[in-house]
Amino acid sequence: MPVQPERFLKDLHALSGFGASGVGKGVVRPAFSQNDIAARKWLIQKIREAGLTPHVDPVGSVWGLAEGASLLLGSHTDSQPEGGWLDGALGVMAALEIARTAREHDGPAVSIVSFQDEEGRFGVTTGSAIWAGTLSLEEADTLTDRDGITFAEARSSMAHLAGNFVDPARFTAFLEMHIEQGPWLDQSEDVIGVVSDIVGIRDMRITFEGEQNHAGTTPMHLRKDAFQTLSTFNTSLNEAFAEVVTPATVWTIGHVSLHPNASSVVPGKVVFSMQWRDADKARLDRMEEIVRTEAMGIAEDHGLQVSFGPLLGLEPVAMDARLKQALRQSAESLAPGQWRDMPSGALHDATNVAAHLPVAMLFVPSINGISHAFSEDTEEEDLVVGLNVLAGAVVRLTN
Ligand code: GLV
Ligand code: MN
Ligand code: MN
Repeated sequence: MPVQPERFLKDLHALSGFGASGVGKGVVRPAFSQNDIAARKWLIQKIREAGLTPHVDPVGSVWGLAEGASLLLGSHTDSQPEGGWLDGALGVMAALEIARTAREHDGPAVSIVSFQDEEGRFGVTTGSAIWAGTLSLEEADTLTDRDGITFAEARSSMAHLAGNFVDPARFTAFLEMHIEQGPWLDQSEDVIGVVSDIVGIRDMRITFEGEQNHAGTTPMHLRKDAFQTLSTFNTSLNEAFAEVVTPATVWTIGHVSLHPNASSVVPGKVVFSMQWRDADKARLDRMEEIVRTEAMGIAEDHGLQVSFGPLLGLEPVAMDARLKQALRQSAESLAPGQWRDMPSGALHDATNVAAHLPVAMLFVPSINGISHAFSEDTEEEDLVVGLNVLAGAVVRLTN
């Protein structure tokens, strides 16, 4: 499969122009932002030029469909609020290059997809979760971003482009190429990771509500301070988690909204994100119990009310053995001795797609293990090795 690395890199750089942050190669392209929609329209044009049939589904995922039964390749083109140029974009542009090359050379039928809201402005991998049926459209429509905008409102901005959901029966399997987003390949100097499994995740918004009051006149013992409560909760949670976690378990309070967020006011309310990830479902469930118990206990001690938003999540998923083997063989032929099997600590659309199809993933290194930041990057020669390994696996799977 004679893919064209220069053409692939040119497209990848062109995509990074949508929402370019001006800081390094970073992008600001959250789902359904103007930048995201403009990038999706550009992708539709690229799909058309490649000879595939463009299609937008009701939740803004963009598809490039080949005729008949086809292999599906892809990832996502939305970004974190401060994102890198490769997270998701790499897998979509590699998919485009391979599907395009396959058409030019009478190769196998390859379709492509850019799922919407992988980065979770509204949910957790929202677009692919809805396509997989693990999240209903009705429930998704009620989810809100951190400014209170609903998913229903956001997706209406692409409704004029949208057709029906795509029938999963069109596809035989799904392959997703991605940057590793962690330090392991960079440290070992391997150039390819063949993913063994993807960890599970739970994500929930928590609110502590106390009493807003004057920061000069309210005695400490009479305060119902939302920030102090969050601070105590965080410390107690870390202590309680220590009993159940492994070195691979991770948890994050990544977004905090303190009200009214002013230096002379005892804060009366805090809304924050609570996320935890692990490869073991039982451990994820145990951690949920701990989160709820600690939050309720500490709220009571401080005289505050606590409430929990919907619990979102994905289960841990293993990659398909046959697809993994094709990736391994392709990696060994193009980068002998320079690839490894490894788990994914990041989430991916592949987790959801696994509800419909056999799935597998390959990683290329992230320089210094940095991602979800403007400084995310990968050596271009490594991007090209990844493209070729993916193309080699497509050939192996379709011959
Ligand atoms: C996906 O971007 C993740 O949060 O792992
Ligand atoms: Mn991603
Ligand atoms: Mn991401």
